[in-house]
Order: sequence, then C-alpha cells, then structure tokens
Amino acid sequence: LPPVITIDGPSGSGKGTIARLLADKLNFSLLDSGALYRLTALSALNREVDLTDEATLTEIAANLDIRFDLRDGEVSALLEGQDVSRDIRMERVSMAASKVAAMPGVRAALLQRQRDFRQAPGLVADGRDMGTTVFPDAPVKIFLTASAEERARRRSEQLREKGVSVSLRDLLEDIRARDARDMNRATSPLAPAEDAVELDSTGVDIDGVLQIVLQLVRD
Ligand code: CDP
Repeated sequence: LPPVITIDGPSGSGKGTIARLLADKLNFSLLDSGALYRLTALSALNREVDLTDEATLTEIAANLDIRFDLRDGEVSALLEGQDVSRDIRMERVSMAASKVAAMPGVRAALLQRQRDFRQAPGLVADGRDMGTTVFPDAPVKIFLTASAEERARRRSEQLREKGVSVSLRDLLEDIRARDARDMNRATSPLAPAEDAVELDSTGVDIDGVLQIVLQLVRD
C-alpha cells in the first residue's frame, strides 16, 4: 500500500494548510476529510433533512455524489456536479457538519471512501481521526495543536482578509465549543494516536511547521 501521512488536530491548528503544502511538496494526493463531513451536511441541508435523523443522514453519506477537482493549485469540491467549495465553508454548514460528524452511522459510511484516497505515490490525510481510525497503519502521524487563543487570532486574521470582522471573544468561544464537541463525542473523538508526534504550533509560523513536518517525514 502507498504511504500515508496523517495530520490530525483541532479546528484552526493550521493542519489544512500544512497538509496542502506537504502534499504539493511530496507530490502526494490530499484527503480533506472534513470536506466529506461538510458535503454530507450540505446535502442534508439542501434536502431539508432533520439533522438528528441518523438513518437518513447515513444513507446520504453512503450515496454522496462528490468529486474533488484540482485547478491551478486550488481544490474545488463538487456535489452532484456543482462547485460548492464556498458553500461548504459557510457557518451553518460548519455547524451542521459538526453534528453530522458525531453520528457513528455517518462515520462508518464515509470510512471506505476515505481509504480509497490512498493511491501511489502516497497520501496526506487531514482530519481528526486519520491516525486513529482511518489509517491506523500510517507510517507518519502528526497531531498538530495550538492554543485556543492563537487559533482564534488566526481565524480572526483570515476573516479580516475576507472583510469580515468578528470579535476575538466570540471566535474563542466558538473554538472552545467546537473543541469540546470534537473531544467528547462517542465515536472517534479528537485525540492523538498513540504513535503520533504531537506538534504545538503556538508562535510558530506555517513555514516553521512545514520544515519540522518535512524533517519528520525524512527521518
Ligand atoms: O477544522 P474545522 O472545524 O474548521 O473544519 P473541518 O476540518 O473541515 O471539519 C468539519 C467538521 O467535520 C468538524 O466538525 C469536525 O469535527 C468534523 N470532522 C470529523 O469529525 N472527522 C474528520 N476526520 C474531519 C472532520
């Protein structure tokens, strides 16, 4: 089987950016597993499905018609042939994704789909349970964290670039709520794999983190 590098961690730890840069550098494919939960959530919202109806949500996850396209270095997500890359980042989709991701049936339905991303020459997998559940045999596992304050600051900067202004206190509250949901759910809660290397990126910039990760991959 081709090698997998797993990058797990909480919301805002920078793992998405690191995963993308790493995949570029190594010429590996990229799995943004969060996008699968977001696409499931968007599909459910579009169909006005009750977000507590696990059987229907599981069926939606199992039958998702999705594709990821790479265009000029940007990955776009297609749901039933439509580019929904922006839609899946909307706040109401984030909230719904977090609920949908707590359901064991949904997680099970998405498992094989995630494993199918493992192709030569290799895969970088970004998520919460890549190293624990989806690719337990991955040779390199990274658990990327940063303090909640730092993650709120990064999010605030990202939003400011988009011309959106949200108070740091609200962002911090939001991040803490998401952490709690991710860590307290019954199936695949957010936690480092036993053999993961834990990296705290508080005060380290993206390039600094990338250099550390590349060194781990080479070792
Ligand atoms: O990091 P952020 O919360 O902004 O978004 P994401 O990584 O795109 O994940 C979207 C949602 O899917 C979150 O609520 C995660 O808890 C969940 N998720 C998950 O349960 N398992 C994964 N492997 C990836 C994401």
